Amino acid sequence: MDNNLQETFNFPQIDRVIKREGNNSESLIQILHGTQEILGYLPKEVQLYIAEKLQIPPTRVYGIVSFYNFFTMEKDAEHVVSVCMGTACYVKGSGDLMKKLESELGVKPNRITEDKKFSYREVRCLGACGMAPVISIDGEVYGRVTPDMIPEIISKYK
Ligand code: FES
Repeated sequence: MDNNLQETFNFPQIDRVIKREGNNSESLIQILHGTQEILGYLPKEVQLYIAEKLQIPPTRVYGIVSFYNFFTMEKDAEHVVSVCMGTACYVKGSGDLMKKLESELGVKPNRITEDKKFSYREVRCLGACGMAPVISIDGEVYGRVTPDMIPEIISKYK
């Protein structure tokens, strides 16, 4: 494996995810989740690496990554907007925040806006359940967010 690729995509960390989740095709979705948590996205080179490690066809990995909208093949944009869809946030209305963000940013979750300014992500618990529903932008957490607060929050990063 090319050294530059190894440095760019941190394959030793991916190996640890594979070891943790189980080196077999049944663990593929969990492995992809764990890998995306490290890299922020799942580029073609990483998909090929995982396919090789699990000894499955690359098309199977690609099929999963492209089917589920929580996986992305694109690298982060300038700002990363994350909406928590963990249980506490979900019951307090994070679904409505997602709809509002979708219209405000003009993209579906786990995609990048056309001007390349924002990556928009759906994530699991952000560890701030007491402030649910929660969004974070570049790691800064906003709690008890309502849909009508979204335009003002986003405008700070435009
Ligand atoms: S469930 Fe959203 S911060 Fe925990």
